[in-house]
Amino acid sequence: MRIYKVGGAVRDRLLGKPVTDIDWVVVGANTEEMLAKGFRPVGADFPVFLHPKSGEEYALARTERKSGRGYGGFTFHASPEVTLEEDLIRRDLTINAMAEDDQQNLTDPYHGQRDLEARVLRHVSPAFAEDPLRVLRVARFAARYAGLGFTVAPETMGLMRQLSESGELEALTAERSWKEISRALMEDQPQIFIEVLRECGALKVLMPEVDALFGVPQPEAHHPEIDTGVHTLSVLEQAALHKQPLTVRWACLLHDLGKGLTPQEEWPRHIAHEHTGLKLIKAVNEQFKAPKDCQELALLVGQYHTHGHRALELKASTLLELLQSFDVYRRPQRFEEFIAACEMDARGRKGLEQRSYPQADYLRGAATAARSVAVQPLLEKGFKGPELGEAIKRERLKALKAYKEAESA
Ligand code: CTP
Repeated sequence: MRIYKVGGAVRDRLLGKPVTDIDWVVVGANTEEMLAKGFRPVGADFPVFLHPKSGEEYALARTERKSGRGYGGFTFHASPEVTLEEDLIRRDLTINAMAEDDQQNLTDPYHGQRDLEARVLRHVSPAFAEDPLRVLRVARFAARYAGLGFTVAPETMGLMRQLSESGELEALTAERSWKEISRALMEDQPQIFIEVLRECGALKVLMPEVDALFGVPQPEAHHPEIDTGVHTLSVLEQAALHKQPLTVRWACLLHDLGKGLTPQEEWPRHIAHEHTGLKLIKAVNEQFKAPKDCQELALLVGQYHTHGHRALELKASTLLELLQSFDVYRRPQRFEEFIAACEMDARGRKGLEQRSYPQADYLRGAATAARSVAVQPLLEKGFKGPELGEAIKRERLKALKAYKEAESA
């Protein structure tokens, strides 16, 4: 039995990046030998085991063949005769298809090291096409390593285009897709993920609502970049530069979907796009089964981002409605994330990346003013039930009016 480190751990060590997960491949062994050594099997599907002490994954060398559509449609063959080279050739990218023994001797039959040096994401073999999720993986790696100068090889982009056109992407489960999307959004340059998906035609299949934003103009006075798709990418870029959490990045990606529905004769204006976009945001949220906090924030940002930009002009009653919609009294963090998404939207415009955003502090101040209304004195006055609710609202409105006056003085 020979054991090798494979995949991301080898790649990232050679790139000088921190290695977190280590995957191992075992050549020349069978299931019984692994069990006898105390390894614990992982599920029934693949010959993968967990190390009894480290908990790291050890997979028997295997070959794979696609036998049907979707992720379930695989047959694999694992036996002590399967060689390391046979195991590596079924993998996605050359830079992920290197193995290393315990002396750090590299096995690199598909020239992963050469591609690492040339900064190229290149598929190993036509077997790439056997798992359509790899289209998203390549786009994610492009987003992660763009800062190092990596790009997708033209022939790999071609294969990704074929896969996107074949209808295979539609067979991906929400869970697998979301895992890639959420990881990609958290990379340093998540806009590259979307760009690569668009270039190979996968965006049109996976998120037609986002794809539709490209080519849609906005008024140049507010949007020097004009194109709504370009703007969306810039907003995402700003969100990453400002280290925003996943919720904010997801909301940034979806905030303007309504603009894709504006009739051409109304261009470049997009009246009520905040409202028209909601059903699209809901659909994308549900399609990928995004976590609840991501879903909620995307819908709220979609609906209220223009309110955020106009914060200083809003009437006290509108400010109150905004704060109530966010349930800012119980969910202060969510309101902070809304403010952050609005700020990213304001900065994600050509030449305006460094602008100040006084709306942020103004909205925080309004939330503080509304939150400062004490309930106890109202209880003491004898208010109960719905009347108490109305009384709290009245007091909050008063507090917001006073806040507005003090701010404009
Ligand atoms: N792999 C593959 N096709 C997939 C998933 C994984 O070929 N759809 C192979 C690649 O060789 C990959 C390895 O399995 O390097 C381990 O996969 P995973 O842990 O998902 O990714 P890493 O490459 O380790 O990358 P990351 O840093 O993103 O975890």
